[in-house]
Amino acid sequence: MTEPLLEALRLKKAFDGLAAVDDVSLTIAERELVGIIGANGAGKTTFVNIVTGYLKPDSGQVRFRGGDITRLTPREITRLGIVRSFQVAQLFPDLTVLDNALIALAVAARTEGSFFRPLKRYELVEQVFGLLRGFAIDAYAAHKTAALPQGVRKLLDIAMAMSGRPRLVLLDEPTSGVSKDEKFLLMDRLLEALVQSGASVLFIEHDMELVERYAQRLIAFNEGRVIADGAPAAVLADPQVRAFVGGAPGKQPQGERPTSDALA
Ligand SMILES: Nc1ncnc2c1ncn2[C@@H]1O[C@H](COP(=O)(O)OP(=O)(O)O)[C@@H](O)[C@H]1O
Ligand SMILES: [Mg+2]
Repeated sequence: MTEPLLEALRLKKAFDGLAAVDDVSLTIAERELVGIIGANGAGKTTFVNIVTGYLKPDSGQVRFRGGDITRLTPREITRLGIVRSFQVAQLFPDLTVLDNALIALAVAARTEGSFFRPLKRYELVEQVFGLLRGFAIDAYAAHKTAALPQGVRKLLDIAMAMSGRPRLVLLDEPTSGVSKDEKFLLMDRLLEALVQSGASVLFIEHDMELVERYAQRLIAFNEGRVIADGAPAAVLADPQVRAFVGGAPGKQPQGERPTSDALA
């Protein structure tokens, strides 16, 4: 049996005595495409923050490719091959798409260490265009990022995160702020490019139609705990999930509320 890519073991994290993540254990295999659902406040973002090193758990362990990464910094974890997107894309607004992506690639090339010779600018530009083409946003290369459509910003943010060739990509509500019509197109492009890269993907999503369409496996959170984990149809039909997540396909998500994303 091959070892899991990611292993969360009995993770716990409380804020002011209230458990945000409460004894969460789960594993993610290579090349899996997994959705995470759960009502607002269920602990989904806190879980992602722990896995990516932005928060330290009170107890429990995160293992990646067999090694303990629980106490590593976000930068060290990124270097090992776990990246995330934020609910709001992290971009330099006054620079073009090309320049933003060049910066991301230069940073990734540097952190990959000394076995890589420094790349010439034209080589970097070629790589960036390859990356942008993968996400079907190369036509925007010369546009300033401040003026981009929301969906393109999201794709760019994730394309940039992919420049370090991660093995695991964590997406926290990648379609938030994107219109209903654009959501499917965004997810089609996003997931196609990510699957193509060979990375495993864990995405948090409120829209049950999207979850049903894209997840190969579904994990439901409630009050900091995993209440269901398995085939999407089975998880969505689970009475507990239906009660807590309110997840009949087609239902609108609950209103936005501040989340721990502000930490980032
Ligand atoms: N940095 C923080 N400080 C205090 N409480 C937090 C913080 N981050 C999250 N919480 C609380 O932890 C719980 C889980 O939040 P979160 O992980 O953001 O949920 P979700 O992403 O599922 O909506 C909520 O009750 C939230 O208010
Ligand atoms: Mg959240």
